[in-house]
Amino acid sequence: MTSKPAYRIASIPGDGIGTEVVAAAIQVVEKLAKTLETFQIEFTHIPWGTAYYKQNGRYVPEDCLDILRKFDAGLFGAVGAPDVPDHISLWGLLLAIRGPLQLYANVRPVRTFPGTKCPLNTATDGIDWLLVRENSEGEYSGQGGRSHIGQPWEAATEVAMFTRVGIERIMRFAFETAQSRPKKQLTVVTKSNSMRNGMVLWDEVAAQVARGFPDVKWDKMLVDAMTVRMVANPQSIDTIVGTNLHMDILSDLAAALAGSIGVAPSSNLDPTRKNPSLFEPVHGSAFDITGKGIANPVATFWSAAEMLSWVGEKDAAAKLMLCVENVCSAGILTPDLGGTANTQGVVDAVIAEIEKLK
Ligand SMILES: NC(=O)c1ccc[n+]([C@@H]2O[C@H](COP(=O)([O-])OP(=O)(O)OC[C@H]3O[C@@H](n4cnc5c(N)ncnc54)[C@H](O)[C@@H]3O)[C@@H](O)[C@H]2O)c1
Repeated sequence: MTSKPAYRIASIPGDGIGTEVVAAAIQVVEKLAKTLETFQIEFTHIPWGTAYYKQNGRYVPEDCLDILRKFDAGLFGAVGAPDVPDHISLWGLLLAIRGPLQLYANVRPVRTFPGTKCPLNTATDGIDWLLVRENSEGEYSGQGGRSHIGQPWEAATEVAMFTRVGIERIMRFAFETAQSRPKKQLTVVTKSNSMRNGMVLWDEVAAQVARGFPDVKWDKMLVDAMTVRMVANPQSIDTIVGTNLHMDILSDLAAALAGSIGVAPSSNLDPTRKNPSLFEPVHGSAFDITGKGIANPVATFWSAAEMLSWVGEKDAAAKLMLCVENVCSAGILTPDLGGTANTQGVVDAVIAEIEKLK
């Protein structure tokens, strides 16, 4: 008899609705494992977040990377609190993990779920894109500083740093990803008209990597023009690759165009698999709806499905997504998608769908 594969997952709910949506996803994934009986999964709660920061003076302990390396993957909620500056919370937790673990490929699929509405009349069949974000350098390298603090001539610099290695590996990943999709089509987002150093290197490396993928149709687009194309000509897009900042912004736009930020997932991948990858919804801690019980858990369900797929449970991941789609089709939606269900209502409906898999 072969034993079932067993996965150890670090659960880091973080702040705000992060705690609500991660709790929702854990219920659903545990139910899936119990029902399918093809794999085992164990979530270990890790309390890093703003409450931890207020107690310990830091968002994560010094040995946080060693702690995470003991797991097969991580499921993250969100970080950010109204009474802590956002750059402290983000750099304290998420960016303290993504860079040092070299989770350099941030994959953000977006699509319109059945039963939900895409606000664009230019995309009557909805949206189905895959966004690849460079996740380790660029505008979020942390390079820069402040001088003349408190003086009227106070100055600050934020230096975007691009390396040939960093660009090459994300381009290769993006071309491979585009190649694996039916359309085999990639758009490289740039801003090399006004940013004449880093972005020009970005374009050059893209063109070099493209030569190894003759079957992928690719084009290059300035980020400002890309926003127009996403709205006016969404059917002309399939896979997109861009820098840390550009894709941070474009992925929120993409999520809103697909239906809601509440359905957008994100995978922080180390494609070399030396380190555990981290899966999280695109959204933040959403102060305005925290504690109301109405956060849309679908982004975290989808993130959990991407996590299952990454660790090797592709079939279970596909089944989970089918259950989520059935629930959306049935109109069981949270208010961000125009529905009246609450978070637990959606969880219960997905669990009922999972029951049917028996
Ligand atoms: N990855 C992260 O941890 C991450 C990402 C973005 C923002 N943040 C942090 O979160 C805090 C709030 O940021 P923000 O307001 O700019 O962005 P946000 O994503 O938290 O919220 C933006 C809007 O989208 C809505 N929304 C987000 N997720 C939703 C969901 N699952 N269901 C229904 N509605 C949802 C919110 O109610 C809000 O109106 C800040 O501290 C910010 O730094 C963290």
